[in-house]
Amino acid sequence: MSDNSQIKVVFSPEEIQRRVRELAEQITSDFAGQEPIMLGVLKGCFIFLSDLVRQVDLPLEIDFVRLASYGSSDTSSGRVQLVKAPEISIKGRPVLVVEDIIDTGNTLKWLVEYLEGMQPSSVNLCVLVDKAERREVEVEVDYVGFKVPDGFLVGYGLDFDERFRFLPGIYELNPQRGGA
Ligand code: PRP
Ligand code: MN
Ligand code: MG
Repeated sequence: MSDNSQIKVVFSPEEIQRRVRELAEQITSDFAGQEPIMLGVLKGCFIFLSDLVRQVDLPLEIDFVRLASYGSSDTSSGRVQLVKAPEISIKGRPVLVVEDIIDTGNTLKWLVEYLEGMQPSSVNLCVLVDKAERREVEVEVDYVGFKVPDGFLVGYGLDFDERFRFLPGIYELNPQRGGA
């Protein structure tokens, strides 16, 4: 943390673990009898996906896409680039997309359309943090960990210019500036 940064705890590691467990129970019951592909969106998903798959009690496969929309800035460009495609064939398979955060919705809207082109049996979305008031495009999210107001969040996979992803909880950066 640089000298003049301020940080406020938004969700403690314990609160996150409790909520991840609840989401995992819901997913376990909703996907009973199926073997979903848990598709993480790199990089932000990496901690949430890791915790979630260890709580979900299902046979499952894990794969990743890497999408980029923000570049090094903290505001969305609205443009989405596919940097890495899924490696497992998703045709005919149930896919559960796992994301750290939904903000404008551009990333997930693009991804759902991309995945639907590959004819999965179903596509559902699981997002830990939902900044609903920032939405620019409509996206139906099936599993939401926490709804939050605007403000720049870091930690538990979320970055600011690639920093702070490793923090164990979720924090608001520079809350005195009213978010970024
Ligand atoms: C962040 C976040 C989501 C996306 C949400 O990823 O992890 O994937 O932005 O924003 P949106 O709803 O406005 O599209 P980012 O593009 O910063 O890449 P990262 O996961 O590597 O940090
Ligand atoms: Mn991301
Ligand atoms: Mg990012």
